[in-house]
Amino acid sequence: MTAQTKCSFCGNTQSNESPLIVGIEGHICETCVRLANQVVSSWGRKREIAKPLEKPPIPMEIKAQLDKYVIGQEKAKETLAVAVYNHYKRLAAETGTDTVGMSSEVVEIDKSNILLLGPSGTGKTLLAGTLARIVGVPFVIADATTLTQAGYVGEDVESILHRMLDAAEGSIGLAEWGIVYIDEIDKLARSSESSHGVRDVSGEGVQQALLKLVEGTSVRLSDKGRRKENENQVMSTRNILFIAGGAFSGLEALVDKRLQPEKMGIGFHVPMITEKDVSSDEVFHETHPDDLKHFGLIPEFIGRFPVIATLEQLDVDTLVRILTEPKNALVRQYSQLFNYDEVELEFTPAALRKIAGQALARGTGARGLRGVLESLLQKTMFELPSHDHIVRCLVDEDAVNGIGAIRQFSADAETGSPKQYAQ
Ligand SMILES: Nc1ncnc2c1ncn2[C@@H]1O[C@H](COP(=O)(O)OP(=O)(O)OP(=O)(O)O)[C@@H](O)[C@H]1O
Ligand SMILES: [Mg+2]
Repeated sequence: MTAQTKCSFCGNTQSNESPLIVGIEGHICETCVRLANQVVSSWGRKREIAKPLEKPPIPMEIKAQLDKYVIGQEKAKETLAVAVYNHYKRLAAETGTDTVGMSSEVVEIDKSNILLLGPSGTGKTLLAGTLARIVGVPFVIADATTLTQAGYVGEDVESILHRMLDAAEGSIGLAEWGIVYIDEIDKLARSSESSHGVRDVSGEGVQQALLKLVEGTSVRLSDKGRRKENENQVMSTRNILFIAGGAFSGLEALVDKRLQPEKMGIGFHVPMITEKDVSSDEVFHETHPDDLKHFGLIPEFIGRFPVIATLEQLDVDTLVRILTEPKNALVRQYSQLFNYDEVELEFTPAALRKIAGQALARGTGARGLRGVLESLLQKTMFELPSHDHIVRCLVDEDAVNGIGAIRQFSADAETGSPKQYAQ
């Protein structure tokens, strides 16, 4: 009797129903071939490179999406919309050259990284967050203040790539076409020239570490407690678009000093940092790479961000719009809070302007709005749950000024219309 032939992988015996393929040192059955095929194709998926979207959104569509959340800042929104659109185009050029049959003539397009400058609370982080939600490529928001040079305790710059890979659900090809937003980049400034930098030497070290990454390099991802499958994967950052943002507090003074040196000489220069007039915006627009160098960014780092987009200081009109227009506008948020107690909350237009004016005086951009609203509504929010009969609250200018109180109305049992509640 001859020995039975078996599949070398699963041990299945050869029969008419399960034929075996003969190899040099063994056999394989049909089931194992199929299984092997599945395994190999899943490797293929991991390596699959990003495909361009069939119809990438045009800049105006991208901006229209941003408009839903971010008020004003038209220039910055346009710059970002064009950058994202060009990113899609580069992706199409890189992957779709064969389909147009002109690969020999196609010029390789380099990326244009963006530096977002603008006063605190004017929407930089909000812009990045909104963009992350609407773009069709993996998007990572990193915080420069948590980054450290390799070898120091904290996140090293390579962690950005690990997060990018996570955002791309493990697909290296997709991750290599992602967008990285590095927030609070101004906090990496060395303090020697501007005294505004807080990180000193270590900050400069992080700038150094970011240089290669931003320009385009291949990084071998170590597995440092990560998923095993990422071990020894190599990711190229050549096509990753980098956007860096920061408030650069004090930069206006440096720009101003360059533009009007004599002003400093005479000695009646008022530091621009605390000014909230239009001229401070204009000064920001004049930012030159040299000013950033004086601020404490290293020239090599500045050179890798050819596009500089500035955000404007918010004025009263914009702040009023921020209070009411975005999908999650503050007025809507507080109305919702009052609604839980079955009370309608209303603001007169004059009251909204006053609130915006008070927020402006705080000098913290749109962040001031919440503080003003909190202190304005605090007392009412404390009392309201104890008064069942109140159905409507009206905030007028006097209430915001502290001259009067927020008017409260109870439901009139007979007419159904609210009548003012005696205070
Ligand atoms: N242009 C804007 N449109 C709508 N909301 C805004 C705008 N600017 C700021 N806000 C509101 O103010 C808050 C703070 O804005 P954001 O975090 O974007 O400021 P920032 O520019 O990043 O400031 P910082 O430099 O201090 O980090 C946001 O949560 C947002 O609700
Ligand atoms: Mg921010």
